[in-house]
Amino acid sequence: MKKINIGLLGCGTVGAGVAKILIESGELICSRVGAALNLKHVADVDMETDRGIPFDDGVFITDAQKVLDDPDIDIVIEMIGGEGIAKDFILKAIDNGKQVVTANKALLASQGDTLCKAAAEKGVDLAYEASVGGCMPIVKSLKESLVGNRITSMIGILNGTCNYILSKITDEGKPFEAALSEAQANGFAEADPALDVEGTDTAHKLAILNALAYGMEINLKDIYVEGISRVTPSDIAFAKEFGYRIKLLAIGKHRGDSVEARVHPTMVPFGNLLSNVNSNLNAVMISGDAVGDMLLYGYGAGMMPTASAVISDTVDIARNLLTGATGRTPLLSYQPRAIRKIPVMPVDEISTHYYFRFSAADRPGVLSKISGILGKYKISIKSVHQKGRKSEGPVPIVMLTHHAKESNVKKALSELAGLDIVEGRPVLIRIEDNDQ
Ligand code: HSE
Repeated sequence: MKKINIGLLGCGTVGAGVAKILIESGELICSRVGAALNLKHVADVDMETDRGIPFDDGVFITDAQKVLDDPDIDIVIEMIGGEGIAKDFILKAIDNGKQVVTANKALLASQGDTLCKAAAEKGVDLAYEASVGGCMPIVKSLKESLVGNRITSMIGILNGTCNYILSKITDEGKPFEAALSEAQANGFAEADPALDVEGTDTAHKLAILNALAYGMEINLKDIYVEGISRVTPSDIAFAKEFGYRIKLLAIGKHRGDSVEARVHPTMVPFGNLLSNVNSNLNAVMISGDAVGDMLLYGYGAGMMPTASAVISDTVDIARNLLTGATGRTPLLSYQPRAIRKIPVMPVDEISTHYYFRFSAADRPGVLSKISGILGKYKISIKSVHQKGRKSEGPVPIVMLTHHAKESNVKKALSELAGLDIVEGRPVLIRIEDNDQ
């Protein structure tokens, strides 16, 4: 029986899941690959934690360098994460001619071009299915299954922590902090949960998907990012009254010479499948000129779902090694010479539907003043809702608009914020309606 040797760097939550599958499902995998995937070494500085995995003697070590320098190791799986030492280890593994699997979305989003270039020059594979959407085969779908399509848009829920928090607030009225603590306890939040709630983690994933779908250089810095920390329970409740749920969406749309790339809380109508993706689940709706709409749905975080994607990559690479087909699929889906610098459309240029909430005085003429300013900036109102009646103090006025240009919306809201009848800053939430 042929044997492919594997070295695992990092045995935290997902790393331990990978080790578990390699050991406990070894025979099943072998029957599908035609070779044994032998976990030769697992390197982690933490030797104390009991992972409940029966490693053979000598498998668990603390020295990652030993894995990188071991000539018998064919595939290095990097499960350390972050942009520090993980990058050095990946580059070293590539330099030593090893195939690499990683789930490191932050590193890929910021330096994926460099890593892929190094791997291509060395003639090794670099696989990263688990970097986006956990178990969902989104990378493989874009690189292989949808290869005959021009992708027109991708709209996804790509952060389990944010989806969990928003679902708990919406369905159970749980406070934000309590829901975040649960997500942390369940192991889906990042070590620094600000990466989740401020939208950065979702942006990392969108940067990777945009490159794969549109053949553009990985571009993280131009993605518009707004997290969920300012979404209030009252906006969630108003959204419900209008027939929407608020989701943190990653939106990547092909717009001719540019790409719309944005991450922000978004109102999604009840009838849209994405509005029914709750708890810590992820989903992404991909639209292509041949397939139409296609939805991937599944757990985007957590030990075993993410490990499942890592194993998928490891098996792909093992099969490539066995058939001498390393490099069969280009690392970023497009041939390197076909990858272009496609600009991200500035968010001010997008046009979409909006939800506004104003805190305004409840007296005659207020609504006409507000709608007058909106009209001045070509913002057409679709519906208005005023909550409550007060002889003194402000009341919430909520509006939904038809298509409007973001730059006009910003000008209008800033003018409205300056009126003495409006208290505080108006709230804006973008809407992704089914007709967009
Ligand atoms: N913190 C991430 C999430 C983990 O909540 O989705 C998976 O990338």
